[in-house]
Amino acid sequence: MDLKQYIATVPDYPEPGVMFRDISPLMADGEAYRYATDQLVDYAKSKNVEMIAGPEARGFIVGCPVAYELGVGFAPARKQGKLPRATVKATYDLEYGKESALYLHKDAIKPGQRVLVMDDLLATGGTIGATIKLVEDLGGIVVGTAFIIELKDLHGRDKIKGYDTFSLMEY
Ligand code: PRP
Ligand code: ADE
Repeated sequence: MDLKQYIATVPDYPEPGVMFRDISPLMADGEAYRYATDQLVDYAKSKNVEMIAGPEARGFIVGCPVAYELGVGFAPARKQGKLPRATVKATYDLEYGKESALYLHKDAIKPGQRVLVMDDLLATGGTIGATIKLVEDLGGIVVGTAFIIELKDLHGRDKIKGYDTFSLMEY
């Protein structure tokens, strides 16, 4: 299946100069969403994953169905003020917008756990880098990163050198 036909490209959103790659048409199509999820599940299986972590909000859309299929847990990395118990924090910069921060509950990952970090899209790598840092701060072992989309021009892969990185399509 050619998954790219399910990605909507929106120029100059959310600000001039950004080509926004919208996964919502892919999610809207049951067959395409399942096909994409199945590819990500195969990758996760090859890494003997024990836990999945993903950043708010689109990382949940991608990571949760994979966690469900594998029968492993999902650790939500959330933005400021969303997690009610003790947290660890990591800050990062975005392709658009200003500095942001992500948090994980301190008990979200067990030391030594093999964790796959997932998101819809790899742009500059700031978001995934922060999520990796949170997992590692808690003693987790990041065994890979996986995305639906990778934006090659933004060189996110360079920011997460040393981590195995899998994506379903590139722009
Ligand atoms: C988008 C996207 C990734 C991130 C990628 O999320 O879903 O998480 O940007 O960019 P980066 O590689 O430069 O960090 P966004 O921050 O827009 O939040 P959302 O998922 O809540 O829409
Ligand atoms: N997150 C960061 N850059 C993005 C882009 N170009 N399209 C969709 N989501 C993004």
